Amino acid sequence: MARYEIIGGAPLSGEVTVSGAKNAAVAILPATILVSGLCRIENVPNISDVRILLDILRGMGARVEYETENTVLIDCSMVSSTCPDGEKVKKMRASYYLMGALLGRHGKAHVALPGGCNFASRPIDQHIKGFWALGADVEETSEYVDLKPGENGLQGNTISLDVVSVGATVNIMLAAVLIPGQTIIENAAKEPHIVDLANFLNTMGAKISGAGTDTVKIRGVDSLNGGTYAIIPDQIEAGTYMAAAVATGGNVLVKNVIPRHMKSISIKLQEMGARILEYDDCIRVIAGGKLRSTTVKTRPYPGFPTDMQAQICVCMAMAGGVSRLTESVYETRFFGYISELESMGADIVVSGKTAIVTGKPKLYGATVTAKDLRAGAALIIAGLSAEGTTYVKDIHYVERGYENIIQKLTALGATIRRIED
Ligand code: EPU
Repeated sequence: MARYEIIGGAPLSGEVTVSGAKNAAVAILPATILVSGLCRIENVPNISDVRILLDILRGMGARVEYETENTVLIDCSMVSSTCPDGEKVKKMRASYYLMGALLGRHGKAHVALPGGCNFASRPIDQHIKGFWALGADVEETSEYVDLKPGENGLQGNTISLDVVSVGATVNIMLAAVLIPGQTIIENAAKEPHIVDLANFLNTMGAKISGAGTDTVKIRGVDSLNGGTYAIIPDQIEAGTYMAAAVATGGNVLVKNVIPRHMKSISIKLQEMGARILEYDDCIRVIAGGKLRSTTVKTRPYPGFPTDMQAQICVCMAMAGGVSRLTESVYETRFFGYISELESMGADIVVSGKTAIVTGKPKLYGATVTAKDLRAGAALIIAGLSAEGTTYVKDIHYVERGYENIIQKLTALGATIRRIED
């Protein structure tokens, strides 16, 4: 067990470079199963979710080598297993992408149900609906999903998602790339990582159009060949450092970002009083004195991301006036961190899908527990902004998604260290 010790109060200042996007990496790495040849993937974040996935691929017979800390060589040509290690699969959420990739490549898969951040009920009915529409026979138990070709084999089809789901959009894309005919996903998710996955697959020879709109079309091809691809920067990691700069009253240049991906976050931080200066691939965030209250509603991309809900809540907790924060993707996500922020002096009342946050002049250091990845990131921001010392426990959640967070924050002037208990 390890925890972070944070001595708060110093405004963050300097430069931070954002890593490759976690949620793109965890889709692209399983996608290499579809490729006959060597994939050289650059800008891969060195985080525990990625390490687990690479371990699962290795266990299935893939050749996986690190060329540098963030460039990985993967050759899945020799992968014949369609049953990844259940214990490892259960350690993370995105391991469910192995279902789509194995179904697409080998026509069958036997994959344990995933684990990961359980801040809400996270059903996979839309994934299953997609596999079924593509002609798979699906057996789902409380332990695993088993997929095999149905009577008429696998074939492209049109699937209209009942909810906008990142995971279902990715899984259906993976399953459809190598099967005959055209697959159309209607009401698809539009997140930057969906586009990144499509760009990766197209670079390897797939025929996918419309990624980034709500209709994605996939024309099945016979095979994908190897190649080199660089993962996009992480929108949420960038947003987390932007929020940390604002909450601590700092001035930070956030490098290696795609400013267009940051719009919904930049706008809200501006409304709270920050100055945001956009350049080609970086953003400067300058906190502008006393923060002002604002209203935020989370939505699928291009809306304000649910994965930034907790971080902006910390800014709201120290703003003048009353802010309203409404969650429309995962209703129960508030419960991962609000009681912890309250123990630091925040005044937050949750009413249905909305948290009403009455700003306080200060937060105070406390011992708090990270209950999921983004909740953990928010508690770190709160600790950096608070008076006194904060201990954040259960940091394994944070380490699933933030590369070198201690080094990056220390370089910005934060006093934070990891303590092994
Ligand atoms: N949903 C269903 N049925 C499904 C799938 C989803 O009802 O079959 C519902 C969910 O319950 C939720 C909504 O649809 O209310 C959206 O869920 P989605 O499927 O988009 O979420 P996900 O794919 O499980 C990804 C990210 C999450 C992020 C959400 C929303 C990955 C690996 N995870 O999850 O990221 O919160 O999209 O943007 O891409 C994180 O990075 O901390 C994280 C949790």
